[in-house]
Amino acid sequence: MTALTNQDRSPATERAAEPVRHVAIIMDGNGRWATSRGLPRTEGHRRGVEAVRDTIQAAIDLNIRTVTLFGFSSENWTRPADEIDMLFGLFRGYVRRDIEKLHEAGVRVKVIGRRAGLPDDIRDLIDEVETKTAANRVLQVVFAFNYGGRDEIARAAAALAVKAVAGEIAASDIDEGFIADHLDTAALPDPDLIIRTSGEMRLSNFLLWQCAYAEFVFLPVLWPDFGRADLETAIDLFRSRSRRYGGVKARESA
Ligand code: FPP
Repeated sequence: MTALTNQDRSPATERAAEPVRHVAIIMDGNGRWATSRGLPRTEGHRRGVEAVRDTIQAAIDLNIRTVTLFGFSSENWTRPADEIDMLFGLFRGYVRRDIEKLHEAGVRVKVIGRRAGLPDDIRDLIDEVETKTAANRVLQVVFAFNYGGRDEIARAAAALAVKAVAGEIAASDIDEGFIADHLDTAALPDPDLIIRTSGEMRLSNFLLWQCAYAEFVFLPVLWPDFGRADLETAIDLFRSRSRRYGGVKARESA
């Protein structure tokens, strides 16, 4: 039996040209990072914010166009209340503290996920940072906050149903592009590369629709330890893959 190895035989230069426009990251392992050091889990989240800062800087340096970071999932509400408060507090503090620096660096910030259910001041902060940075083009940073892929698809389906009932659209209008245009990610390209840290190998309801042709890289590093070298490792792995989108490579079809 042959090993399941990458079959791409294209020259390294050709592979290196594969653009990585959109990297999406499941930032996992904060709790394990902290407990392995005898620290409270919250300390892992605090250190996780530093890794967010480092990753954004590395993404700018590596000329990545969009980075999506999974900050709080719709399933994270099942965590203890004090941990949830802490995560909201970190997000609040991070945006307030870094908003000017991000703006000056040309970073556009966008937040995807269900807004209902978030504290009013966080919703206001999201509006503020999205509006302030809307014209920036160096890097787009998307925070998935109170986000779940199934929830996002269900909200899009509900929005389409409202339009159909109002007679604004017909069932025949609904195709893949139409659905994509009603997701939180409507204006974003699909992720090229999805990274999950901590060694876990699952998607946990992240970008379910958008990941159809993403490449997945699972790294054993815990999120607070993640840095530029890990991002580069993931991109190297991405570039070693052969993306065919269900088709065949041009030279194989000749
Ligand atoms: C997963 O680790 C991580 C999270 C649920 C939250 C990620 C949040 C941050 C990095 C800080 C938030 C800051 C911003 C700016 C978005 P885990 O707690 O599930 O780790 P474990 O699996 O080891 O327990």
